Amino acid sequence: MHPSSLVIRRFGSPARLAAALARHLEGVVAERRRVVLGLPTGRTPLPLYQRLRERCRQGRLDLSQVTTFNLDEFVGIRSSDPASYRSFMQRELFAHVNIPPGRAHFLNGAARDLVSECRQYERRIARAGGLDLVLLGLGVNGHIGFNEPARELTASTHVTRLSAATRRSNAPLFTPTRRRVPTLGVSMGMGTILRARRIVLIATGEAKAAAVRGLVQGPVTPRLPASFLQLHRDAEVWVDLPAAAGLSAP
Ligand code: GLP
Repeated sequence: MHPSSLVIRRFGSPARLAAALARHLEGVVAERRRVVLGLPTGRTPLPLYQRLRERCRQGRLDLSQVTTFNLDEFVGIRSSDPASYRSFMQRELFAHVNIPPGRAHFLNGAARDLVSECRQYERRIARAGGLDLVLLGLGVNGHIGFNEPARELTASTHVTRLSAATRRSNAPLFTPTRRRVPTLGVSMGMGTILRARRIVLIATGEAKAAAVRGLVQGPVTPRLPASFLQLHRDAEVWVDLPAAAGLSAP
């Protein structure tokens, strides 16, 4: 038995996971319209974003009072660049739902003074009342946001060096332009994430199985940043069956 209070929810497919999470978000937003969300990029949340787009189009979901903060961004990439996470979010979600543009917050990886950019981001989150719910993806190496495995982790929003594995998995964003993936990113820190009132990490596919096992059943270690979720009071891990393959039976 592992001692953590992490709740694990297993789903038969990524589509089922996405549908359940979309319903969950709908419930959270209906109960308390002014919700502050932390949002991830990557392939994993794509089915969720598709569901949210559909539900907004059908008029079943009203996100007009919701505030969002994206987790991370590449350094040296302008927001308007198609390879930026901001452009990704615009394409996949924000262009299709009714979150007012002023309520969708991003780190600007092209800012001249990145230290002040990071500080301002922390202030903006605090001014919004803190994060109610953070949705997280999971790197194959156990990263969350751009908090990479290391000897030590950083608590607040910061500039970070991207690992080779992370740069490889982000390469498709840069392939059309034949550019190299940046070596640096900016990311909410571990403290920023862990201060959220509630956290739901989503992971699908067998490539995530080892990281999922480590995060749920391994020690809390900066070598696997997602393992720090074990310390959170209200964190859940939502997985499909291939991603759950390394976990001992429920
Ligand atoms: C990227 C992002 C993370 C994301 C992760 C997983 O590097 N910085 O926030 O959660 O990788 O990506 P994917 O869902 O494509 O596996």
